[in-house]
Amino acid sequence: MIVLNHVGKQYGRMHTALADVNFHIQAGEFVFLTGPSGAGKSSLLKLLFRQQVPTSGEIRLAGHRLGEMPEKEIPVLRRKMGVVFQDFKLIHSMTVFENVAFVLRIMGVSFPEQKNRAFRALKMVGLQHKLSNFPLQLSGGEQQRVAIARALVNDPLVLLADEPTGNLDPDLAQEIMSLFERINGQGTTVLVATHDRSLIQRMKKRVLGLEHGHLAFDTPAPSSTLAV
Ligand SMILES: Nc1ncnc2c1ncn2[C@@H]1O[C@H](COP(=O)(O)OP(=O)(O)OP(=O)(O)O)[C@@H](O)[C@H]1O
Ligand SMILES: [Mg+2]
Repeated sequence: MIVLNHVGKQYGRMHTALADVNFHIQAGEFVFLTGPSGAGKSSLLKLLFRQQVPTSGEIRLAGHRLGEMPEKEIPVLRRKMGVVFQDFKLIHSMTVFENVAFVLRIMGVSFPEQKNRAFRALKMVGLQHKLSNFPLQLSGGEQQRVAIARALVNDPLVLLADEPTGNLDPDLAQEIMSLFERINGQGTTVLVATHDRSLIQRMKKRVLGLEHGHLAFDTPAPSSTLAV
């Protein structure tokens, strides 16, 4: 589902954010991406979302070759993906419902269907009662959950999440991870960038570790959890 071959990313001439990163993620896997601040986690997710292009190497995702992809194919790629950004990127002038339903509207989904699907996604994160609120009327954790609902509303093939539990208390963080597991159980490939070591330890999934832009380790899920 996701293949990186010798991927490098430089910002400007001097700064190397990623260097010679190689890995495969199969369809249906649940994988954590970890590493210290500045290691390149967000940079890697931005490449996968085609928000940025690699300086070198090749990325394939859901049948697309991201490097050579013409601009007009970007929306086709993104429709297959759900993304939770580190800074949420909610639109403050739109209600919670409008934020979540936005992608469906763009895709030309009928209004009743937008309502059904947005409600279902908000219910998954426990925020169906906040439909008509604006993002700035919500707590940080609630905004984060709206961002997660927005990423899930489209039943994505691939879910990318950048520190999705960064602003949540441990119970809520665990709930969000259980939600991701459920989504993963329905076939969505999940890649979660996080610093949270205790979360990673509890979840027992494959872990990719970045250090200074290099892939320092790729630890498979403990075998006891593979046979599901
Ligand atoms: N747009 C940019 N321009 C220049 N340098 C950048 C840019 N974005 C990221 N960097 C640099 O690239 C490196 C990797 O950053 P990145 O955001 O990918 O790290 P991260 O692992 O997500 O860190 P954090 O855990 O703090 O979110 C950092 O040194 C950062 O300063
Ligand atoms: Mg980051």
